[in-house]
Amino acid sequence: MIRIIRHLVLFLAFALPFNGTAQTDSVRTLYKITKEITADSAVVVTAHPLATKVGLDILRKGGNAVDAAVAVHFALAVVYPQAGNIGGGGFMIYRDKLGNASCLDFREKAPSAAFEKMYQDSMGRVLSKKSTYGALAAGVPGAVDGMWEAHKKYGKLKWGELVMPSVELAEKGFQITPNEAEGLNEQRIFFVKNSSLTPAFVNMEGWKPGDWLIQKDLAETLRRVAGEGRDGFYSGATAKLILREMEKKKGIISEEDLKNYKSVWRKPLEFDWKDLHVITMPPPSSGGIILRQLLAMAGDLKKYGFHSAEAVHLVVEAERRAYADRSVHMADPDFYKVPVQMLTNPEYLKTRMADFNPDTVSSSANLTAGAIKESEETTHFSIVDAEGNAVSITTTLNDSYGSRTVVGGAGFILNNEMDDFSAKPGVANMYGAIGGKANAIEANKRPLSSMTPTIVTRTNKTWMVLGTPGGTTIPTSVFQVLVNVAEFGQTLPEAVQAKRFHHQWKPDHISYETDCFSQEVEATLTRKGHLMNPRESIGRVEAIIRLANGKWQGVADERGDDCAGGY
Ligand code: DON
Repeated sequence: MIRIIRHLVLFLAFALPFNGTAQTDSVRTLYKITKEITADSAVVVTAHPLATKVGLDILRKGGNAVDAAVAVHFALAVVYPQAGNIGGGGFMIYRDKLGNASCLDFREKAPSAAFEKMYQDSMGRVLSKKSTYGALAAGVPGAVDGMWEAHKKYGKLKWGELVMPSVELAEKGFQITPNEAEGLNEQRIFFVKNSSLTPAFVNMEGWKPGDWLIQKDLAETLRRVAGEGRDGFYSGATAKLILREMEKKKGIISEEDLKNYKSVWRKPLEFDWKDLHVITMPPPSSGGIILRQLLAMAGDLKKYGFHSAEAVHLVVEAERRAYADRSVHMADPDFYKVPVQMLTNPEYLKTRMADFNPDTVSSSANLTAGAIKESEETTHFSIVDAEGNAVSITTTLNDSYGSRTVVGGAGFILNNEMDDFSAKPGVANMYGAIGGKANAIEANKRPLSSMTPTIVTRTNKTWMVLGTPGGTTIPTSVFQVLVNVAEFGQTLPEAVQAKRFHHQWKPDHISYETDCFSQEVEATLTRKGHLMNPRESIGRVEAIIRLANGKWQGVADERGDDCAGGY
């Protein structure tokens, strides 16, 4: 009976607030999933319909975009455990209604006991499982501090009001989608192996779509965060539980590490491109720099046509050069002097493309990073409020379900962000990214990221808000959505749902979604010397655009359960 009532309440809750068009079949019976929405005042686009609803509720109550973002972040930690988190970290780009832009870095940090060769054996071989599974893979989480800082600076509603919807979702439970059921079943054995207590995510009989996921421990943790703010996570009962998990599962995060974690307000990376102004993420993300480099090196695409062999070849050759630079020059700016100005200088970028040949590929083996003269799971959400404030946040546990270590008694998953460091020069991490000295592991350092939360303005007004998960494919996905609209004249839904491709210098091949290219284009690319590597979906973009008539359009990626809402 209780189940039926719950089902009815849920159905009513989701039948009412959205007025969009398309839906995905997979979850239609559970939730109304809206992929496109046009709204007069405000839009929220997230990876899960329940998180979108939480954000809209906060906006309707008079909260601003940052209030809604805080509430959405906590909601995703409950309803989207593969990437939503309080045990991970992320980045926020914010632009207020007056045009002031800011950037918050709440990325995880290496614990103070971390050291350069911690994932190598005595022979210098990299033990990649150690940086991906278990407590030792976790960086010091930044998410709760990040939300606390963002709210302190910009929030309007009370903190507790923003966290409580998530306490309720964790305590009462929610029905899982087919995607979530599949994800949790796949990871069951890893959760059991890497956690000291069997977490709520494990169902020995196997999860089915529509099953209720109830997370009592997480509800208690979130209740402490609701009542005590950042201290509810970094000290007291939650901190004790984290330290106990570290002891039991041989992690190295210490009491001091938790106490000392601090997010950082950074200057966003800003640049003009054609008639647009781009506000995006600086280091410790490589994303903003790569986006800038790609737009400069391969932004003139209109004349070639969408997904033509010429356009793809040009973009791939630019990507090859940008990712070669990433491997050497990009890292945590608090530890390594990243030559941002040099890397984004139009003259430098022109020289990078001087040997571009429209007929044939350059070889990644011979192509290295420029000489510097100057001294699969994450989630993104985009929000605009009725006043015109905009938030773009990408947040992550790194891999899907992070380290698969759930803090016993606290109910949340720890990240495996340590794998984003370079465990050894020249050895690829889980995204195939190769790094060296700049991104080597050091105590208290942040690992290099690719996350690219972005806001684009036109004539001084917020025009587009976008971002995506996808590891190293993030900057190239953001680039593609932007040029699909700005160069190829696509609508935002077309631009987001279009097939995507990616090249990252090494491995030396074009990865692409099935049916991305016509047979003819594929043959031409092969003839030019490209190696073609079809793969599963690339990215999940959540984007908002201001239409010519002044309305907002929100678009959620069809590649997942992602959902747009607005009013
Ligand atoms: O910070 C980064 O670049 C990665 N940890 C992001 C991971 C990610 O996007 C996984 N999603 N598929």
